[in-house]
Amino acid sequence: MDITRRKFLQFCGQAAILLGLEAWLPKSASAASDGTMPIRFLRHIITADAATSRTIMWQGNVNLSGCALEYRLSGQVRTTQSQPAMTTSLVEDNVTTFFCSVTLNGLTPDSAYEYRIVQKERATHWHRFKTAPPALSSVSALIFCDSQCGGDYGVWQQTFQTAWQRYPQSDFCAILGDLTDNGQSNWHWDRFLAAMGSLPSTRPLAPVMGNHECYGLDWKFCLPRRYLASFSLPPNNSTKFQGCFYAFDYGPIHFIVLNTQELELHELLPGLLERQLHWLKQGTNKKHLPWQVVFMHKDVIAYDEYQLGTHQTGGISDIGHAFMNTFDDLGIDLVLTGHMHTYRNRGHIKNLQPATAGPVYILSGPAGNTQYNVPDDKTYDRSAIYQPTPPNYLTLTATDKELTLTGYTTGGEHIETTTLTK
Ligand SMILES: [Fe+2]
Repeated sequence: MDITRRKFLQFCGQAAILLGLEAWLPKSASAASDGTMPIRFLRHIITADAATSRTIMWQGNVNLSGCALEYRLSGQVRTTQSQPAMTTSLVEDNVTTFFCSVTLNGLTPDSAYEYRIVQKERATHWHRFKTAPPALSSVSALIFCDSQCGGDYGVWQQTFQTAWQRYPQSDFCAILGDLTDNGQSNWHWDRFLAAMGSLPSTRPLAPVMGNHECYGLDWKFCLPRRYLASFSLPPNNSTKFQGCFYAFDYGPIHFIVLNTQELELHELLPGLLERQLHWLKQGTNKKHLPWQVVFMHKDVIAYDEYQLGTHQTGGISDIGHAFMNTFDDLGIDLVLTGHMHTYRNRGHIKNLQPATAGPVYILSGPAGNTQYNVPDDKTYDRSAIYQPTPPNYLTLTATDKELTLTGYTTGGEHIETTTLTK
């Protein structure tokens, strides 16, 4: 192959990533491109220790067995290693999707790596990523809630891309549930992932399961198979509930990602809440870093949403009653939630265990195009944005002494800045 043709193919590959596509190139200059279907949605998923490990995933609608990941310290060709991918498949919505996943362990903290996917004689072009610095270094993250969209995912794309353009140095991003409007719809999953473009191929994503991940094509509750297949998440010592909840460390923060789908999953996946409460008190979550932050989808206040447990439409929600005492016991600093599609800061909610300050509770979203009018809660709300709330996101930055959370609308309005200090 001459150099011009190779460069043209590389250009095509990079352009295709913007559409969520990744073209195969010849693995070596002597081989020819076979022009078969590309892989899709190359993405990095958060791992328990972002300084020394990384999970990389991709998917496609043709059989991807036999794929492997080649990786090396940036520019150090002699350190190149290869690791085979785990491949699974899922048939939903009359579509078969193949998912590939590789978890790299033993990486060097704060180091640049390059990697490519290979399958027989073909390969993607080389991508780059950087591992997190050692613990206690500072961290910055972008946080989105409720990226679900009706009609098209243009608003989610705009929110996600705008936030990254404004804060390109962010270390990772989290999406706090309701990623798609329908958890079994191939169209919704494709549009949700495509809207993120190539950013997930360099920065890890920390997903959170929401109630819409548990809605089937018939809008009845279903197991969130597509969500679980789409994200290879850190282990939680439970085969039955793997992927439903997890924890990870990044810089000075221990992040705990919980599952609030008790209503949707208590019959399909019994024991989920009990298992989480048990896991929360295990060694993994014993305080070992300066900050502890919880990500979960449903909020601790009901805001005019009927609660099966309390038989109320306001006040502390069923999820609040399930978790808040444990948060107090664990000394959680901050709890971030979504689901209500608005921004509310409740500060410390002290009424459950008055002897402890408890975490600060902040609700944000949406990041997609679904807007509601959410009533006030005069007992708990300390600040609120106007209604209906436009698309928005949060920035989170932390050192071992100070944690700052700021809300912005996608249009650029500053909503609020909250600073916690040690
Ligand atoms: Fe929700």
